[in-house]
Amino acid sequence: KKVVLAYSGGVDTSVCIPYLMHEWGVEEVITLAADLGQGDELEPVREKALKSGASVSLVVDATENFVKDYAFPAIQANALYENQYPLSTALARPLIAKLLVDAAAEYGADAVAHGCTGKGNDQVRFDVAIAALNPDIKVLTPAREWGMSREQTIAYGERFGVESPVKKSSPYSIDKNLLGRAIEAGPLEDPWTEPPEDVYTMTAALANAPDQPEYVEIGFEQGFPVSLNGKPVDPVALVTQLNEIVGAHSVGRIDMIENRLVGIKSREVYETPALTVLIQAHRDLESLTLTPDLIHYKRGIEDTYSKLVYNGLWYSPLRDSLDAFVKKSQERVTGVVRVKLFKGHSIVVGRKSTYSIYSPGLATYGAEDTFDHRAAEGFIYVWGLPTRVWSQTGRR
Ligand code: ARG
Ligand code: SIN
Repeated sequence: KKVVLAYSGGVDTSVCIPYLMHEWGVEEVITLAADLGQGDELEPVREKALKSGASVSLVVDATENFVKDYAFPAIQANALYENQYPLSTALARPLIAKLLVDAAAEYGADAVAHGCTGKGNDQVRFDVAIAALNPDIKVLTPAREWGMSREQTIAYGERFGVESPVKKSSPYSIDKNLLGRAIEAGPLEDPWTEPPEDVYTMTAALANAPDQPEYVEIGFEQGFPVSLNGKPVDPVALVTQLNEIVGAHSVGRIDMIENRLVGIKSREVYETPALTVLIQAHRDLESLTLTPDLIHYKRGIEDTYSKLVYNGLWYSPLRDSLDAFVKKSQERVTGVVRVKLFKGHSIVVGRKSTYSIYSPGLATYGAEDTFDHRAAEGFIYVWGLPTRVWSQTGRR
């Protein structure tokens, strides 16, 4: 039996290698580490897999794929789970699942595997995405079944030559990629405890944010971010640069009690500087270019879309269909949004578009007014008629 294992270099995924071979009779473990712009040196990760017993150790750079085909469509959908979390981790899972399934086909593997625990969303996202991409492939989930504590896991690994963590391992569970970092566990498990400053690496402490505001102009074309401060930039560079600019002002931190699909409430801390501001700016540009009924209808779509991505249904007929709606809605979402960053705040202070349907002649209170004021009277009579009749009926 040959298995492709999603690999991060951490304790759990490393111990999965000997565990699969010695407990579950797997003959060959091929590891796959995805580069999603997390900024880690992946060569040591590649080598660690081989030292831990993998026969082949793959590192796949999928950063551009991630930003263009997963993050940007989510920005078009203004996707925020529970109105706050821009799904930085959730969006990565379906892509990693795809890399696993593709590698399994290429190497003729019978199964794929991951090291998620049984308490999280990530296991659901992997399992469901893999089944959607290849309903015939088996998914092996050792960490969900081995029932070992952290110490037991490390000890088990040591027996088979898996290096134990060199530095005293951090109390946090961290997932990161170009879109952001998700930090949980340790002292954060007490919802009353303020996150210690050292959990953050992409955003500056508020106290260190510059005393001067900074403006950034984000250009969109059909809902896709395409430029920064007037310069066209490719998707990966755009997110990378915007992370720097926004993070320096301590913008993009989220601290929330989140409802996991598996019924558990968990305290989650995120930092998603670029993504937070991109969604804010994108939503503002929609307010300039879309009709009110479309904007309001789309809010419902966005909520459904966010839940579905969070709940692991990226590869589903519902997401395909919602995406078609969202794509169509973006045809005129082209323009520039000016955002002011200052001391933990991002504020949209300007927007423009050749498709703007904001009409100065209609909006003005000045002499240039073109609105037909007499038309309002008949409109209000008709609009208020049901209320008037209701009230009259109540008085009788
Ligand atoms: N709760 C978040 C989500 O469901 C983040 C999970 C991140 N994983 C981790 N090991 N910290 O997307
Ligand atoms: C995990 O248990 O794999 C991390 C948390 C989550 O998936 O929500």
